[in-house]
Amino acid sequence: MADFDIRPTGGPIGAEIIGLDVSKPVSDTVFSDVESAFYRHSVVVIRDQTLSPAQLAAFSRRFGQPQANVRAEIQKGDVPEITLISNITENGKRIGSHDAGRYWHSDLCYLDKPSKLTLLHALEVPVRDGVAYGDTRFASMAAAYDALSDDLKEWIDGLKAANSYRYMWNKKAHEFGVRPVLSDKELEKYPPDAIHPVVRTHPVTGLKCLYVCEGYTRESVDMTEAESAAVLRQLFEHVVKPDFLYAHNWRLGDLLMWDNCAVQHKATFDYEPPLRRLMQRCTIEGSVPF
Ligand code: SIN
Repeated sequence: MADFDIRPTGGPIGAEIIGLDVSKPVSDTVFSDVESAFYRHSVVVIRDQTLSPAQLAAFSRRFGQPQANVRAEIQKGDVPEITLISNITENGKRIGSHDAGRYWHSDLCYLDKPSKLTLLHALEVPVRDGVAYGDTRFASMAAAYDALSDDLKEWIDGLKAANSYRYMWNKKAHEFGVRPVLSDKELEKYPPDAIHPVVRTHPVTGLKCLYVCEGYTRESVDMTEAESAAVLRQLFEHVVKPDFLYAHNWRLGDLLMWDNCAVQHKATFDYEPPLRRLMQRCTIEGSVPF
């Protein structure tokens, strides 16, 4: 019997784990309980964690192979698999990514083997008058798929789409101005587009999940540009309907883990300096979507 509590939110996604310290060695039995909760609830927070980058990397490795981020400049120094997400600037230099999570997305879906899960640990949370800002919102892609009409399910079955880091880069650069606009030549140092099914099967639960996102999905292949734009617009609007959503309101020390096949997510930018937000993150490689 595990001596920690797992408390589901009661919605389609989300649970919290209380009373577990992952900075210490975690037995196989305990890890198996955590992993089962993770696949059952898709977004799970382990509360009250104090973790160095090395400790976060060590716990993350229990799930599989950590991925090096394509942006070396947001790595956390001596632990290459840990990156920082923050709004903090120190000595004129941004620490970490200042514009991560601006669009709904699934992590690293632009790679042939996208992230299976992401672990995000709250080191600083923006709080004013007792209210924490900077929620991360999640949308269940299994619930979103289930709710489609049979006609639409039939239409999108077997479709593939291009997921593009390069497309996302310049979209973000133009819209938010945090990163520079790059030429096609400059973008070549980043991965080429990955073609993935629009509906993928979860490799563990077997559930069908929608796998297109406004952040990275550039076009649906094998159709005209106009058809692709129309189907993607319809799906992007559909996946974020309130019934499929869960908002994580952060507390200091939260270690949040999410399943990048079962959900997509988006950060909330409702705080500004002097309020500070600092997160350390690790992503774990998944399998080729099918
Ligand atoms: C992300 O998109 O990975 C970051 C989410 C967040 O900062 O809330």
